[in-house]
This record gives sequence, structure tokens and C-alpha cells, in this order.
Amino acid sequence: MNNILELSHITKTYFLKNETINVLKGVDLEVKKGSFVVVFGPSGSGKSTLLNIVGSLDRPTGGSVLFDALELFSHDDNELSEIRNKKIGFVFQFHHLLAEFSCLENIALPALVNGISPKQTYEKALQLLEKLNMADKKNRLPSQLSGGERQRIAIARALINDPLLILADEPAGNLDEDNTNKLLELFVGLNAEGRTIILVTHSLDIAKVGTDVYNLKEGRLYAMR
Ligand SMILES: Nc1ncnc2c1ncn2[C@@H]1O[C@H](COP(=O)(O)OP(=O)(O)OP(=O)(O)O)[C@@H](O)[C@H]1O
Ligand SMILES: [Mg+2]
Repeated sequence: MNNILELSHITKTYFLKNETINVLKGVDLEVKKGSFVVVFGPSGSGKSTLLNIVGSLDRPTGGSVLFDALELFSHDDNELSEIRNKKIGFVFQFHHLLAEFSCLENIALPALVNGISPKQTYEKALQLLEKLNMADKKNRLPSQLSGGERQRIAIARALINDPLLILADEPAGNLDEDNTNKLLELFVGLNAEGRTIILVTHSLDIAKVGTDVYNLKEGRLYAMR
């Protein structure tokens, strides 16, 4: 199969005390292996909601998600967390690095959780740091890095288990223009190596790097390119 991911009529409704919020109203999306999908939409349009469903962090209200040829939400929560750990790499808006661990340890953790040997894991973590030109900072804590450097560590962490899919939620949200461009170059390079990426952003400038660009508007996706 050529598609790594197929969303069919995904809906997401939040039920609050006095309010029902229909955030996603029927999202259909096919993601081909090796593509770089960008979903562009204003703040509050539901980008994180959508990405969290794709990443199995949250269940949809309705619809189906076919990931790696299996129905994602037929799995229970334990199985989902295993799928997430092994097959999906997440890069969040605010890096979510663990403050008390070094860069190298932060990158290594998902592989150690996955049962890979420490020796093999740390070798690979170091290779990833070298690729990102950050090997000299391997023992630093996240608080001792710049915002752009932290995001690079978050990307390395997302790559440690060789995921089938990389998900990025506004990864350049806090970065200046120079660091944003460096980060985008990194994503473009990963895509050129064959990685499948879904990135969500409110920036039209950033959206341009995608091979497939969609606009999330009023709960639905519209192809822009
Ligand atoms: N747990 C929740 N309960 C109720 N409403 C929620 C919840 N999470 C998100 N929402 C609402 O759903 C809508 C979409 O939120 P979401 O975080 O997906 O937007 P977004 O496109 O990622 O925005 P941003 O660009 O600001 O990150 C918003 O109106 C938000 O208030
Ligand atoms: Mg968001």
C-alpha cells in the first residue's frame, strides 16, 4: 500500500458544560509514504486536535484512522502507547524535553523504553546529535540550550526509534527567522531521505515547504497544493 495514513470522515466534538464545540467536522486525508504534508490554519482551527488524533494521543468522536494498514483506534490504550513509541515521532511546539536529563539522555529515552540496548541507543543518539551539529552539547541540560537547539534535540528524540511517521506541531513556534529556516531545512532534508512528515502551522511561509499542502478551515481540510 502506498498510503501510510488514511483519515476518513474524522470528527471531534468537545462537550463542555454549556457548550458543544465541533472542532473537526469530517476530515478526509491520505498521506502517501515519503510525502511532506503541511496543514495550514489559523489559531483555534483544530490543527493540534487533528495532529493529536493522528498521533493517537486523543481519540476522535467519529471516523476512522488507518495507520500502517491497521485501524488505529481498534487498539486499547496500552497498544496505542506502544504503537506511538515505535512508529510515530512527535515534535511539539514546546519541545517537552525532560529538564533533569541531558540532551543525550532525552534523545535516548524513547529507545530505552522500547527495550533497545543502552549501548546501541547511546551510539545512535550521538550519531543523531552529530548530524544536527550538536555533539559538543550532548551533556547539557535543556535549560542550557537556545530555543532552536532545544527543537533540534526534540527532532533527534523523534527520530531515535526510526518512526514511520514524524508529526510536528508548530515546531518553529518560538524561533526567530534564522532558526526557523534552519529547522525547516532539517525537515526538508529528512523528507528527502524518505521520511514521511506531517507538520501543522499557522504560517503560510512555513506551509510552502510541504509537498502536499492543506488548509484546515471550519473543521474541514482543503487541498492547497
Ligand atoms: N480539551 C478541550 N476541551 C474543549 N475545547 C477544546 C479542547 N482542546 C481544544 N479545544 C478547542 O478546540 C479548538 C481547536 O483547538 P486546537 O488546539 O486544535 O487549535 P489549533 O489550530 O492547534 O490552534 P493554535 O494554532 O493556537 O495552536 C479551539 O477552539 C479550542 O478552544
Ligand atoms: Mg495548536
